Amino acid sequence: MTSLEKHLDERDLARSLRADVRDGLTATPKRLPPKWFYDARGSRLFEDITRLPEYYPTRTERAILASSAAEIARLTDAKTLVELGSGSSEKTRLLLDAMLRQGTLGSFVPLDVSESALREAVDALGVAYPGLAITGVVGDMTRHLRQLPDGDNRVVAFLGGTIGNLVPSERAAFLGDLRSALHPGEWLLLGADLVKDPGTLVPAYDDAAGVTAEFNKNVLRVINRELRADFDPSAFEHVAVWDPEREWIEMRLRSGRDQVVHVKDLDLDVAFAEGEEMRTEISAKFRRAGLTAELAASGFALRHWWSDPQDWFGLALAQAETIPRVRP
Ligand code: AVJ
Repeated sequence: MTSLEKHLDERDLARSLRADVRDGLTATPKRLPPKWFYDARGSRLFEDITRLPEYYPTRTERAILASSAAEIARLTDAKTLVELGSGSSEKTRLLLDAMLRQGTLGSFVPLDVSESALREAVDALGVAYPGLAITGVVGDMTRHLRQLPDGDNRVVAFLGGTIGNLVPSERAAFLGDLRSALHPGEWLLLGADLVKDPGTLVPAYDDAAGVTAEFNKNVLRVINRELRADFDPSAFEHVAVWDPEREWIEMRLRSGRDQVVHVKDLDLDVAFAEGEEMRTEISAKFRRAGLTAELAASGFALRHWWSDPQDWFGLALAQAETIPRVRP
């Protein structure tokens, strides 16, 4: 039993890409949001990244999930599993298997901005789990949480450390929206990459084989194709830096020369100076105490915490609490 609900179409996506590119390329310093990395090629490059020796988050989270899935199923008694930014949903199967074994699960709701990626995942899972009601939701997790299908005892999984793409104010808005979309007692399963030695962090975002560099530059190819721009990806250099104050990795593209890029569909000329850096992604790293406080501030009580023996990656299970009403 599979179906698809669409809250976003090609026109919405085209409109938000245009707005993001215009805002970002006319700002000082210039920036582009990371959500535009993921066309078919970008998604493939990200899959390649997850297999790099330097990129520890995916395999570390998978190992944590493999050993905690049964306990998660037991603690939550999930009837519905919702997954935000589901992507290839390989790690999801660990949760689905455990929840089905537990005997409570009836439906799975993956949400993703990419309709093609979602269709593929929904079709594959429909074959693997014929008894499960699977409803794919094409949507933006920062905009369409209110439209999630209602259910009882839902567990919302947000894995991979993608919460790190948001700055603190965006995280508070996102967690608040998610809390509002849930009933008290429902669950959030959140994967978060943890603060660690920069000697481990930086190579994870600047690998020896140069895959992350290609992934980073892919956003330029996306803009070239979608907005008829003339970025020369080879005129930009991949940069990954650790910001110790804000505790996040910043990916940037550094212009190798003075150049002017034309974005035809926006009727925009953009000048880059030699050495100028444009931010393309932040990947925030967390500490258990800080994340617990952020969750609590948004109405989620931390119930369980798992991590790996090196404490490199954390998996938080939090429960929606009744938000105390502000007195008039
Ligand atoms: C998919 C957002 C979790 O931040 O580690 C990987 C993306 N960027 N290498 C991350 C990414 C560069 C990844 N997330």
